[in-house]
Amino acid sequence: MTLDLPKWFDLHTHFRQGPAVPAYVKAHLDMGCAGALAMPNTQPPVSRVSGAAQADGWSIESYSAELNAAGADAFEQLIVPLYLTRQTTAAMIREGAASGRLRACKYYPPHGTTNSEHGLPMDDLIGGEVFCAMEEHGIVLCIHGEQHALSGPDYIDAAQNAETRFYTERMPRLLAAHPKLRIVCEHITTWTAAEFVAAAPDHVGATITPQHLLYTLGHLIQGLKYHLYCLPIVKFQDDRAALRNAVTTAGQTKFFAGTDSAPHTTKATACGCAAGCFTGGCAPQLYAMAFEDAGVDLASTEGKDLFERFLCFNGPAFYGFPASKQRFRLEKAPAQTPLLETPAGPVTPLPLGMGIELSWRISE
Ligand code: NCD
Ligand code: ZN
Repeated sequence: MTLDLPKWFDLHTHFRQGPAVPAYVKAHLDMGCAGALAMPNTQPPVSRVSGAAQADGWSIESYSAELNAAGADAFEQLIVPLYLTRQTTAAMIREGAASGRLRACKYYPPHGTTNSEHGLPMDDLIGGEVFCAMEEHGIVLCIHGEQHALSGPDYIDAAQNAETRFYTERMPRLLAAHPKLRIVCEHITTWTAAEFVAAAPDHVGATITPQHLLYTLGHLIQGLKYHLYCLPIVKFQDDRAALRNAVTTAGQTKFFAGTDSAPHTTKATACGCAAGCFTGGCAPQLYAMAFEDAGVDLASTEGKDLFERFLCFNGPAFYGFPASKQRFRLEKAPAQTPLLETPAGPVTPLPLGMGIELSWRISE
């Protein structure tokens, strides 16, 4: 079986900075990706809209130029959100919107994930002039929805976790204070978040990663497969079922692909593990496997429609750009997960598909 699909959009990914960027971008282009939203948690962060890169931060302008020089100019769309820090002002939002460079901003819970130390508490932003300016100018707010600064036992237990707390305690307040703010709930992992998004107005959507559709905490812990470790961490069976239900609901328009592909060349250290799963080269294959695990027959018209909505159509519609007119093909055939190659040899971020056989491959 072959699936002939429009090229797809990855509306949450990490391309980092430095010499490996061309390899990361190429891995995306090679898997039929027509465009990407490249996250701003670089080192230093993307904390300004315009101007040259400085020691304390890139601008959207300078980081986009860096990515384009590394091959991202082949994408139909490249969105770089502004990292919300204590230095972000309403004037930056207004000027960024007027210049056309600013399309989205990213909220990171302080110290909540990789390179998130420049973030600030959500409570400091709700009702403030930055969110008001974003609301007024239609700038999308991308949210890493986890309550920050919880102790280990409170971060996750059987009854609740940092994400469920964020979606029950913070998100209702955010929506009440900023009813017109366009919001993407990034990489949601729980039924609490999935239900929140489904019940919210149409201008609230969500990205879902391959790992959260495929795996649970049990997969990670059984064998301590740390290449499955990302934040928010994979959750429980009820949560995975709710995510699968969200993406397989006929006619759904709110949920779309955002791989959160996050290359870490050093994953495990003596005192902890870097958060982030790398899916460059294998994301559409893994998404197809997840849809099949969820009971979708991708050979049927209905099944293909569900898959295309999620992978190719809903994201562009949410962000307000056209779906791709280019095509790519997925072929049902056993395949090994591609390893990242550069002229200097393989680069080592361990891909999510490591150790399993993929049941789809990108066909020429
Ligand atoms: C991401 C990374 O490595 O940049 N890691 C992750 O676990 N998802 C950051 C993020 O999106 O949280
Ligand atoms: Zn991410």
